[in-house]
Amino acid sequence: MNRLLTDALILLVDDTESNLELLEMIFEGERAKTLRAAGGEKALELAKKHGAGIDLIITDIRMPYMDGIQLTGKLRELLGHQTPIMLLTAERKTDEQLSAGLQAGANDYLIKPINEVELLARSGSLVRLKRVFDENMELQRSLELKVIERTIEVEMSRDATMFALAKQAEFRDPETGSHLERIREYVRLLAAQMQKTGPYQSRIDHTFVMNIYKASPLHDIGKVGIPDRILLKPGRLDPDEFEIMKQHAAFGGRTLHEAEERLLAPNQLLTMAKEIAFCHHEKWDGSGYPGGIKGEEIPLPARIMALADVYDALTSKRVYKSAMSHEETHAIIAKGKGTHFDPVVIDAYESLIVEFVRIRDSFKDAG
Ligand code: C2E
Ligand code: SIN
Ligand code: SIN
Ligand code: FE
Ligand code: FE
Repeated sequence: MNRLLTDALILLVDDTESNLELLEMIFEGERAKTLRAAGGEKALELAKKHGAGIDLIITDIRMPYMDGIQLTGKLRELLGHQTPIMLLTAERKTDEQLSAGLQAGANDYLIKPINEVELLARSGSLVRLKRVFDENMELQRSLELKVIERTIEVEMSRDATMFALAKQAEFRDPETGSHLERIREYVRLLAAQMQKTGPYQSRIDHTFVMNIYKASPLHDIGKVGIPDRILLKPGRLDPDEFEIMKQHAAFGGRTLHEAEERLLAPNQLLTMAKEIAFCHHEKWDGSGYPGGIKGEEIPLPARIMALADVYDALTSKRVYKSAMSHEETHAIIAKGKGTHFDPVVIDAYESLIVEFVRIRDSFKDAG
């Protein structure tokens, strides 16, 4: 089995019914999905409908009304260059004819009668090419980060804009609801509590409390760089997908870092936002990401953020999980004291449980 072809969507174009059937049988043996078109018009109609969802197009050259070379030109206009096209020709064509096909935008050709092994090998490579294209498209999205960076740079003084920016970044994930509204309340409560009492008192002032309230909504801004198929996946992520997901912390941290570099004057709020984005998935015992740093190496705002983020993730519904009760949540968090979370932050949280539940209930998500 050629695993590259599993679940690939292949459009087959041929005016001869029996050829379509043969191709279909071969690809179905590889668990690919196929679409059939008896001619160019039908092929264009299917290409319009499925767009970039089509991973490979295989077309006969000699067909009445519209030949495979004309069709290739039209498909290129319609789909751009990311969808690979392979031509099938009944006899060895002259070099001119083949080069016309390649010039029209075909990627490869095969001579009939079809050799199954060769067909599958070439199809597999073309589908792989398409996948690389798709990944690059997704990477383009990280260019959105650049736009955000610019906006931060220009609008740094306007808090409302910063929040709007964070909201925009979360917009793709419909289930996060009032996540940002709640977590900024949680972090403010925790910081204010730690300002009043405990070992970090001297490190937290009024500005710190205000800044963490404003900076925390940007913690997941790097998620704009994560493809939808991962961010919005309804089930558990597989290990490869989770590796990509983990990049959101460094993506966001880097974006804010670059914005910071370009500001003329140092800006405490932006520095804090950067530390939070970078380090909100670090763990007290060093088992987190991206740095695997531990304890006091993790910036304090990020240690506060980590608790607020997990508390909110656990008590909310996500695309991949349902909401937990406060009791279940509390048990998980208490277990994380000294492993996932800074014990001092947990102490603050334990004295604020009533307020946490009140905030959770006052910003309920719809649905
Ligand atoms: P998130 O949904 O905002 O979750 C933030 C953090 O809350 C998670 O960080 C994790 O530490 C904690 N958390 C969330 N749900 C659970 C849970 O059911 N049990 C426990 N013990 N902890 C939980 P983490 O794991 O680094 O994940 C970061 C982000 O990656 C998540 O943000 C979410 O967007 C995504 N993600 C993680 N796992 C999955 C998954 O299985 N499927 C999907 N679609 N996304 C996932
Ligand atoms: C992206 O979707 O923008 C790139 C994400 C990735 O593959 O890490
Ligand atoms: C930081 O630069 O603030 C920490 C980076 C990390 O978490 O690895
Ligand atoms: Fe995160
Ligand atoms: Fe989050």
